[in-house]
Amino acid sequence: MSEEAVKVTVRPNGSLRVEGPIVLQDAEGRTWDLTGKPAISLCRCGASENKPFCDGAHKRIEFQSAPSPVVAG
Ligand code: FES
Repeated sequence: MSEEAVKVTVRPNGSLRVEGPIVLQDAEGRTWDLTGKPAISLCRCGASENKPFCDGAHKRIEFQSAPSPVVAG
């Protein structure tokens, strides 16, 4: 495994954008071929027909979620 940080961005009303050295596996440890993909978008709404990837369906179902971290004041 690489020591590089992976960046995950929660997109407003949309996917999780993952950038960095990514290994994506299913529950049995089989990996998706992400050759040449420096970033991927994972479905967060549950409506994608290409899970675990986002296919834009979140727009069709008008998925609403725009969380942000709680900042201590
Ligand atoms: S987040 Fe895009 S299809 Fe689910």
